[in-house]
Amino acid sequence: MTVTEAVRRRRSIRAFLPTPVAETTLREVLDAARWAPSGSNIQAWKIIAVAGAERDAVVRMALESMGTPSMTSKDEFPIYPPDLWEPLRTRRYTLAEDMYRALGIPREDKPARLRHVARNFELFGAPVGLFFVIDRRVAHGQWAHLGMLIQTVALLLEERGLGCCMQEAWAQFRPQLAARFGLPPDEMVYCGMAVGHPDPAQPVNAFPRTRITVDELAEFRGF
Ligand SMILES: Cc1cc2nc3c(=O)[nH]c(=O)nc-3n(C[C@H](O)[C@H](O)[C@H](O)COP(=O)(O)O)c2cc1C
Repeated sequence: MTVTEAVRRRRSIRAFLPTPVAETTLREVLDAARWAPSGSNIQAWKIIAVAGAERDAVVRMALESMGTPSMTSKDEFPIYPPDLWEPLRTRRYTLAEDMYRALGIPREDKPARLRHVARNFELFGAPVGLFFVIDRRVAHGQWAHLGMLIQTVALLLEERGLGCCMQEAWAQFRPQLAARFGLPPDEMVYCGMAVGHPDPAQPVNAFPRTRITVDELAEFRGF
């Protein structure tokens, strides 16, 4: 598989088979991923990988915390600004509509949509969860660096026929995750990632996705 193929084939997987992922496979992926670049090579990142009973405990913790006051609605690092502007707002809306159409959930069925959101916290059935940890004291550059690591992991999984879904949804459980993982006060989970074997029978893993064009993405000057 070429890098281009891996980039084009990777897509967010939101339905997994229960087939386990071997620790050796994951170690191989992370052994390659640690070569992702970071500014000044400071590698201000850490990953907590969970499977088996530990995965189940994290899932249980999240499901039990859902809807309780302990679920942080006002995080110090919110995922999105409060009023997303155009065209970002429409892109977000389009993704949601495309995804719920694939899931067969109509717009007015709010309980079913919420049930799907809750599937995030079951890792969409994936046997492995990765949690990407960042230090609160870093500058914004290091958050971008962490993104390099996350996408590198995703492409290496793709190369091995595995799938993943990056999950900022887990940001809603930062205090609970920090407690569960015993993180020092300066560290926090940036986002999670569900990892496993994609379920090929599920339309949610196959709906068409959109992207802006190269000319919307980039300005070419001086060529
Ligand atoms: C950092 C990050 C966090 C994300 N968090 C979630 C999430 O919590 N739940 C989810 O279903 N998808 C999540 N996504 C997936 C995006 O919705 C997805 O990448 C986007 O719609 C593009 O689709 P694609 O990944 O299939 O190409 C996240 C993506 C990124 C990069």
